[in-house]
Amino acid sequence: EKKISVAIDGPAAAGKSTVAKIVAGTLNYIYVDTGAMYRALTYKSLSEGVDIGNEIALVHLLNDTVIELKPNDYGQLVFLDNQNVTEEIRNNEVTASVSEVSKHKSIREEMVRRQQLLAKHGGIVMDGRDIGTHVLPAAEVKVFLIASVEERALRRHQENIQKGFSSNLGKLKEEISLRDKLDSEREVAPLRKAHDAIEIDTTSLSVQQVAEKIMSWIEERT
Ligand code: C5P
Repeated sequence: EKKISVAIDGPAAAGKSTVAKIVAGTLNYIYVDTGAMYRALTYKSLSEGVDIGNEIALVHLLNDTVIELKPNDYGQLVFLDNQNVTEEIRNNEVTASVSEVSKHKSIREEMVRRQQLLAKHGGIVMDGRDIGTHVLPAAEVKVFLIASVEERALRRHQENIQKGFSSNLGKLKEEISLRDKLDSEREVAPLRKAHDAIEIDTTSLSVQQVAEKIMSWIEERT
């Protein structure tokens, strides 16, 4: 059977990675979380004190950085220069700075180059903001996931509480809205639905229902 490429895009905390992992697991495909790559670079620039407004300094840093995504039973581990940073890249400082890092043109060019290499043999489910529009414009299946900001903040809030982290619903809502604004208003490859993507509003759907919708869409096209 032909191995295709599946692009999953959408705003922050819309459930992209949860659903992408299920779809990749069902198809026995590779899952690539592109947000984790931007987060890893952001984490490194913050720890090394590199100015995230300085595009040239950031590109030098990125060219000297190895980011690896390794699947495990629960999803994916993220390694930055051989160090496991899976947890660290989700912290508030990284989340607050990642859109600033990802807006730079030459950073995006290098990230897209790396992402296209990972996808060159197909059999991939990739999630992000510009996968259907820029990274894999020829992907056979493109999905754009949306949900109300209230619902997205609430899901993140419940996830935090479950993990035993402190969480503030109002702050989450603000953080999510701001990140969406920055990601959709940037000049280079802003967050957009590809013209040939199917849009799924997940506000009142379960993870399983969303995954099933995507799976049946994939079955129609393969
Ligand atoms: O998906 P996640 O929320 O982890 O992504 C973190 C950030 O990385 C996004 O808010 C966005 O600024 C950036 N990103 C991007 N392009 C992608 C994936 C993520 O610009 N393909």
